[in-house]
Amino acid sequence: MTALMEQGEICRPIGFVPTMGYLHQGHLSLVHRARQECRTVVVSIFVNPTQFGVNEDFDSYPRDLSRDLEMLEPMGVDIVFCPPVREMYPDGYQTFVDVEQLAQILCGARRPGHFRGVTTVVLKLVNIVKADLMYMGEKDFQQCVVLETMLRELNQACRIIRCPIVREADGLAMSSRNVYLSPEDRQKASCLHQAIQLAQRLCRDGKDKADEVIPVLTELILSRGGQIDYIAIVDHVSLQPVDVVDTRSRLLLAVRFGKTRLIDNGAIA
Ligand code: PAF
Repeated sequence: MTALMEQGEICRPIGFVPTMGYLHQGHLSLVHRARQECRTVVVSIFVNPTQFGVNEDFDSYPRDLSRDLEMLEPMGVDIVFCPPVREMYPDGYQTFVDVEQLAQILCGARRPGHFRGVTTVVLKLVNIVKADLMYMGEKDFQQCVVLETMLRELNQACRIIRCPIVREADGLAMSSRNVYLSPEDRQKASCLHQAIQLAQRLCRDGKDKADEVIPVLTELILSRGGQIDYIAIVDHVSLQPVDVVDTRSRLLLAVRFGKTRLIDNGAIA
C-alpha cells in the first residue's frame, strides 16, 4: 500500500473501481487503467443486495475474497474497501436514488429495482471514497449511461471513465456470472459476440435497418439455444430504439443460456 496522504494532502486524483468481487481480467483492466491515470487507486468489493431482485442470485453470487485480494496484490492498489452489508445499509435504511426513465427500460424493465440499487450504492461508494474518476467497463453499457446521468444530475464531481469490454478468446465478454455456465452453455454463449460481428457485417453491406438486422440476430441466437430477453438497437445516449443504424447506435443484447442471463453490446456502424 502506498501512502494515501502526503503532508496531510490526499493524493488526487482518486481513481475508483467499484466491483462485486469474483474478479476477472475485465476488472483488472480497469484497475490497471486507474493505476496509470490516478495517484490513488481504490477498489471496492461489495455484493450489493439492493440491486438484486427477490428471485435473483444474491445468495449464490460467486464470492471469494482471498482470491480477489491475491489478484489485486500485484496491481498496486492503495485501498481495497470491503464494507459489510450492515454498514452500507444499517437497520431502518430508507434512502434511495432513482434515475427515473433510463432505469426503467431494457435491463431495468426485466429487473425491476435493479438500477435503483446500483445508483444508490454507487453514489454512497463515490461519497465514501471521495472518487474523482470512476472506472467502469462498457459491458454494462446501460449501467454506464444510468450512472453518468445520476452523477451529472446530482452535481457530483466524479466522472466515469468508460473502458472497453474484455473478452475471452472466443469472444465471450468476461463476467463474474460466466462461472454459472455449464460447459455446453459456455460454448453456446459465444454466439453473443458472433451476433455483434454479424450485425457489423450486415451494416457494412448496407443492411442498416434495425428491423432487417434484429431478425437475423434473433435467428442466430435461437439456433444456438439462447433464450432472448431482448435484442435492441438504440441511440447510445438516450437508449431509445432507432430505425436506422448509424455511428450513434449501439446493439444491446440480453440472453439466457440455461439459468444464466448474460448481456453484451457493441457499436455496429
Ligand atoms: O457492475 C457492478 O459490478 C455493480 O453493478 C457495481 C457497479 C459494482 C455496483 O454494485
